[in-house]
Amino acid sequence: MSDNNVQIFDTTLRDGEQVPGCKLNTNQKLIIAEQLEHLGVDVIEAGFPVSSPGDFKSVEEISKLIKNTIVCGLTRAVENDIKVAAEALKYAKYPRIHTGIGTSASHIKYKFNSNQDAILERAFEAVKFAKRFVEDVEFYAEDAGRTDNEFLARVCEMAIKAGATVLNIPDTTGYCLPSEYGAKIKYLKENVKGIEKAILSCHCHNDLGLATANSIEGVINGARQIECTINGIGERAGNTALEEVVMVLKQHPYLNLDTNINTQHLYGISQLVSESMGIYTQPNKAIVGANAFAHSSGIHQDGVIKNRETYEIIDPKDVGVTESAIVLTARSGRAALAYRAKNVGYELTKLQLDEVYTNFLNLADQKKEIDDNDIHQIIETSTVYQQIISA
Ligand code: KIV
Ligand code: ZN
Repeated sequence: MSDNNVQIFDTTLRDGEQVPGCKLNTNQKLIIAEQLEHLGVDVIEAGFPVSSPGDFKSVEEISKLIKNTIVCGLTRAVENDIKVAAEALKYAKYPRIHTGIGTSASHIKYKFNSNQDAILERAFEAVKFAKRFVEDVEFYAEDAGRTDNEFLARVCEMAIKAGATVLNIPDTTGYCLPSEYGAKIKYLKENVKGIEKAILSCHCHNDLGLATANSIEGVINGARQIECTINGIGERAGNTALEEVVMVLKQHPYLNLDTNINTQHLYGISQLVSESMGIYTQPNKAIVGANAFAHSSGIHQDGVIKNRETYEIIDPKDVGVTESAIVLTARSGRAALAYRAKNVGYELTKLQLDEVYTNFLNLADQKKEIDDNDIHQIIETSTVYQQIISA
């Protein structure tokens, strides 16, 4: 891996699947895992094996199926969790155990009724125990976003001392501002002894709509892995959306950070995950929403028809969308109508367009959107129809 490569750790099948009512069966998970490998993710977090026999089986089957990608299983800092995860991962070509514990004052006090020294000890022991089974051990400091940086650095040192290969710094509650999260990663890069032995990983939740911005600040400040889900699905407001962080890095090449993702598969896998889980993405969702490349105002349509780049920063083909859409509504102008009429076989002169456009506006005022059938009807009932078809 080069210094500029950002590893993409997909947790659609673990953190993403924690969405209420969206449980996937093993077969559905296998189909998604195969497509994630095809997409080019570096790590597939396949599940939390100790949580249920179904999750164990899914992690085991995904481990058998996947050939070139790291397969990861989640655990708490509990020996039995780790043993069970190791068992589920035993067929994986590249297995990773992801273990960890809450580190914020609130988690230490309310979840564990414990103290910082005991948490340091548990972090060390969990990583050391996981190393008995696999070489690749990722440690997470849950609620790192609200953990005091000095203590977080001590936790990271303990995990590295025990052999952690990756340090996950989750903003579990989606609380941090981008500047704050970026500063946290920078602080760890500069203050954790032995940090060169491990990769720092961003795992940001979206409670304030900042997950993508926080992950990007994280990699700008030295992290080299982003944990994310397809369509940003996940608990509460969800996780960082894979398609967003990947496209931010691709569209800003001067950041000099790249990923191994084949972006042309983004739209297809977004559809697959949304259909399998029964969660439909909002139309205005960045990159993969139905309207992400649709233009409906007359001014924008005129610009896009002249040159796509006037209103689009991404070529839709780069993310697997066939083409930009010119949507006909009462806000559309003549250029859009002429363009769509041409697509269905009518080449209109300026005078013909004037008449057809008046009829179009009358209908568009009554309907939300004008489709191809409407265009045929408007043209066929116009007084210039014979001229148009005999031209
Ligand atoms: O959000 C979080 O802290 C997590 C950890 C369990 C990695 O998902
Ligand atoms: Zn999470």
